[in-house]
This record gives sequence, C-alpha cells and structure tokens, in this order.
Amino acid sequence: MDNIAYAITDSESTEVITNTRNSLNKNKLCFHDLHSTTSKFASDVLQGLDKRPASIPPKYFYDAKGSQLFDAITKLPEYYQSRTEITILQDNADEIAHHVGTGSLLIEPGGGSCAKVHILLEGLKPMAYVPMDISSQHLRLATEELATAFPWLEIHATCTDFTQSMVLPPTAVENTEGTKVAFFPGSSIGNFDPASAVKFLTSIAQLVKPEGYLLIGVDLKKDKNILHAAYNDALGITAQFNLNLLQRINHELDADFDLSGWQHKAIYNEQAGRIEMHLLSLREQQVSIGQSRFAFANGETIHSENSYKYSTREFIKLAQHAGFQSVALWVDADNLFSVHLFRV
Ligand code: AVI
Repeated sequence: MDNIAYAITDSESTEVITNTRNSLNKNKLCFHDLHSTTSKFASDVLQGLDKRPASIPPKYFYDAKGSQLFDAITKLPEYYQSRTEITILQDNADEIAHHVGTGSLLIEPGGGSCAKVHILLEGLKPMAYVPMDISSQHLRLATEELATAFPWLEIHATCTDFTQSMVLPPTAVENTEGTKVAFFPGSSIGNFDPASAVKFLTSIAQLVKPEGYLLIGVDLKKDKNILHAAYNDALGITAQFNLNLLQRINHELDADFDLSGWQHKAIYNEQAGRIEMHLLSLREQQVSIGQSRFAFANGETIHSENSYKYSTREFIKLAQHAGFQSVALWVDADNLFSVHLFRV
C-alpha cells in the first residue's frame, strides 16, 4: 500500500504502521504477531487423522485462501447469518452504545476481516480496538483498510490463536483504562462444543472483568431446510471452503491428498443441535503426510466442523455458566439470528 510506513518497535514481533496518507492523521496501527499456532498445525492434523472417526479442528480452515472463501460464503444468498446479524447490529447500534458507553477497549477475537465492527465504531468511539486472528495476512489487509476508514482509531492487530490463549498485547492494555468490551460476532461460538464454549466464554470473562461486556452473535435453532441450504450452497463455495483444508495440508505439511477423491458433506444433526461438516472419502485411498501414512475406506469421513445452534434461552444459560449476566438481546423479525449483550 502506498504511503504506509512500517517500523519495528521494541519487540521483534510488533510493528507500528503509521498511515501518512494524510498528515493530519494521528492514526496508529500496530501489528502484534504472537506466533502461537504454526507448529501445532502439523501435530493437530496428525493426531486428528489418527483417530477414528478422523477429525481436524475447524480453526485450520483459515489460511489466506480459506479466509477469502469464508468471506465469499458470508455473501451467499443461502448464508443468512451474516446479513441478518449486520441488520441487527445496524438497527440497534445506538442502543448498544447506550448500554456500553464510549472510551472502551474493544476486543474482537477472530476479527480477521473487521467487517462488522465498522457498524459499532462511530457509536462506541472506543479508546482502542484489538482484533485477534489466526490468519496474519488477512488481518493485516483488513486492519490497513480499517485504519484508513477510521483515522482516529488506535488499532492493535494481534495475530494469535485465541482458542489457545486469550492474551492482549501489553501495549494495548498499557494505554487504556476504559471498560473492556469483547465483540464476538458471526456465531463463531457455534464452532465450539458447548463445554468448550463455556470454557472459552470464561476466558473472555476473565479478560474483560471486573465490569466488562460481551457482545456476541449466535445463530438460532430453526427449520432444518434453511440450515441445510446455508451449508450446501448452490455455487459450491462451502464445498471449496471445506476441501481447501486438504489443499492447505498438501501445501504446508507435504501431503498428497488427491482432492478428486474427497467430497464436501454437511448435515444437520437435530439431536445434537448442530450442523456437521465432513470430508467424505469417495474411494479406498492412502494419504501421506510427511513420513506418516493414513488409510481411508470408501465412505469414511474426516469431521471438519460443528456449528451449534442455540435458542436464546439455551444460550443465556450457557453464558451464565461462564459468569455472564444477560443485559440485552436482539433477534431479527424472522427469528434467524440473535445478538446478546452480557456483562460479567
Ligand atoms: C465461522 N463459523 C461461524 C461459520 C459457521 O457457520 O459455522 C463457518 C462456516 N462453515 C461453513 N460455512 C460457514
């Protein structure tokens, strides 16, 4: 990008990116790389493929290509989640700001595309914004755009695996004493099983305590045909997103998955209240990953994602287990999606 100056600061992994496009800008964008995941990718994949049924954690979908495919999914007609949540946030931005107030430290675990935070920034006028994401390239591009659109905003872009550790970059905390507000949109909480969701929300409660907030988007239980269509789109983008996981393993872990031997499969497991995504082996086959070899039978699957759906009551109960009290709740007119505001 033109006219963006990069400077390495005190720590090797922190860059301060100052936008000099407009000399009146006090805009500061810091990039913190907490390097927490690269080495775990290999061991998580090898361990997951050793199990039967085989599985791979869904966080590994999000390399640069996976993040782009996910952005494409959010624009699909069948994927109602994103546009519905955006409408809820837009319609209620003033009310959210009224509850939370201004001058907070706004933290967004998984905020790689920074797409929804735009809606809140003018109302919340946060002291600083800390998006955390596992995909460094995606985070970098998105925060550079955000810095240009909101020149007054201090941004601490943090590349980290927030599912492993919820740590704020020290410089982000040093300069802000305001209330901490965690923003976790997109129903990403649905990608945790309920016990892990409680654990994760507990770590958010620890992060924002003593008086902080959690603003969270949660996909609602609904007619299974609507859910089925959302994860089996006509253009096949969700299929590409799922299969890209195998491509990523090929590229990064010296593997030889033949993608023509695998198929995307997504079903709604009504009893468990979740969409399940799988990669289905279309024939008996062997795959090498580095020195390891794995055999898959025809019809065998690799479980690649769960996406839990909750009623508003179920989710308030779950959040209570993590130490949160419900402050406000917004749902769209068609009962597709919910946005909850909780306080520790
Ligand atoms: C990120 N997460 C909330 C998405 C979901 O709906 O569970 C990921 C996704 N998987 C397939 N489509 C979208």
